[in-house]
Amino acid sequence: MLRIGVVGVGTVGQSVCKILEDNKDIITARAGVEIVPVAGVVNDLSKKRDVKIKLTNNVDELLNDDNIDIIVELMGGVEKAYEVVKKALEKGKPVVTANKALLAYHRYELQEIAGDTAFEYEAAVAGGIPIINALRDGLSANHIKSIRGIINGTCNYMLDKMINENIPYDVILKEAQELGYAEADPTFDVGGFDAAHKLLILASIAYGIDAKPEDILIEGIENITSEDIAFAKEFNYSLKLLGIAKKKNDKVELRVHSVLIPNKEMIAKVDGVMNGVSVVGDKVGETLFYGAGAGGDATASAVIANIIDIARKGKGSPMLGFNMPLEDGLTLASKDDIETKYYLRMQVEDKSGVLAKIASILGKRDISIKTMLQKSYDETKANLLLSTHTCKEKDIKEALNELKSSGVVLSMPAMIRIEE
Ligand code: NAP
Ligand code: HSE
Repeated sequence: MLRIGVVGVGTVGQSVCKILEDNKDIITARAGVEIVPVAGVVNDLSKKRDVKIKLTNNVDELLNDDNIDIIVELMGGVEKAYEVVKKALEKGKPVVTANKALLAYHRYELQEIAGDTAFEYEAAVAGGIPIINALRDGLSANHIKSIRGIINGTCNYMLDKMINENIPYDVILKEAQELGYAEADPTFDVGGFDAAHKLLILASIAYGIDAKPEDILIEGIENITSEDIAFAKEFNYSLKLLGIAKKKNDKVELRVHSVLIPNKEMIAKVDGVMNGVSVVGDKVGETLFYGAGAGGDATASAVIANIIDIARKGKGSPMLGFNMPLEDGLTLASKDDIETKYYLRMQVEDKSGVLAKIASILGKRDISIKTMLQKSYDETKANLLLSTHTCKEKDIKEALNELKSSGVVLSMPAMIRIEE
C-alpha cells in the first residue's frame, strides 16, 4: 500500500481524495499497488469538507510520519509551500505538486534538492492536459521552435462569456471563483501572472531557461473593453490570453498578454475553461494539446497520474527532464525586441487633422496601419480602432506615449497584440 499525505485539502485536494476512492480499482491496477490518502493538512479545521481522511493544521505531523510515503502539496502560495516541499524532499519523501507559483520561483533549487527523489508537477500547467509529460518525454527528440498556449482557464472562461454572452467582467469572475477555477487571489489569473508561472515552467523544459516572472512581459485581461470585443468580431478575430515562448536564433522570447487571433486558427476555437497548447518541434512540426485547464477533478486527474507514475517507478526522472544545459548560449530576449502586429484603441477628438497627426506619429516609427474603424461617441469625440502590420514593441510603446501627449488623443491608448 502507498500512503499519501495531502497538504492542502481545498478544491484540488478534495478531488484527489475522492478520485482515489471512486477509481480505486483502475488506479490500483495501473499503479500495481493500492494508493490510499491517509492524512491532510488544512488551515481551518472547522470548515466542512467532503473527505474521510484525518485532518490536522500541523504540517510537521505529516512530514515526520514514516508511514506517509508521498507528500502531495496542494496548498498554493510560494514560500510556505517551498518550506514544506523542501523538508519533504530532504527527508527522501517523493513529492507531487500542482503549484506553479512555487515552481515559477524555486524550480531549479527544488530540482537540486530532489536529486533522485521523485518530484512531479504535471497538474501545475494546463490542469488536466499531460503537457509536462508530452514536452519532457514525448517531444524530447526535438528542438522546440515555439510554444503558444491558452494556459489560464479562468481568463479563457471569462473572455468566452464576455464575448459570446455579454456577461460583465465582475459577474463572470465571481462565477469562475465559485466553479473552483480561479486562484486563491484571482488577480493572479486576470493579471496574467498564473499564465506566466506556467509559461516559465514550460520554457525551462523546452529551453533550459532560468527566468523569473519579473524578467518577462506579463499583461492580463483587466483592460479589455466592449470596443475591443466589437473590433475583434468585426475583423473575425478571437480574443485570448496567450503564453508565448518563441526561439529566435540564440534568444528565447517569453511573454503573456491578450491577443487577437484569426478565428480560423485551431487555438482560437479553444473556449470556456478549456486550455490549448500548441508546441512546434523542429522534427515533429506542430502538435496541439487540448483539455480542461482548471477545476478540481481535471487537476486531480494529473496529480494522481504523477502518483501512479511514482508507484510504478519508485524514483523520478530529472525534474525538468535534463541533467545538463539544454542548448548552449540560449538567453532570454529583451521585451523591447518583440515583433508582432498590434491592435490599438484610442479615444480622439473628432475633427480634421487628427488622423493625419496619428498617422504621422506611427509613420515616423515605420509603423504601418493595416485596418481602421472609427466609432463616433458624440459630435466631438470618437473611438479609433486600428490594427498595424508587424512592428517592434519598443516602437509601439514609444508611439503610444507620444500619442497620449499629442493633444489629439484624449487618454492613454489601449493596445492588444495580434498573433497570426
Ligand atoms: P484552495 O481551494 O484554496 O485549497 C488550498 C488548501 O490549502 C486549503 O485546504 C487550505 O486550507 C490549505 N492551506 C493553504 N495555506 C495553508 C497553510 N499555510 N497551512 C495549512 N493549510 C493551508 O486551492 P486549490 O484550488 O485546491 O489549489 C491548490 C493548488 O493547486 C494551488 O497551488 C493552485 O495553484 C493549484 N492548481 C489549482 C487548480 C484549480 O483549478 N483549482 C488547477 C491547477 C493547479 P483551508 O481549506 O482550511 O483554507
Ligand atoms: N487558476 C488556474 C486557471 C487554475 O484558471 O487556469 C489552473 O492552473
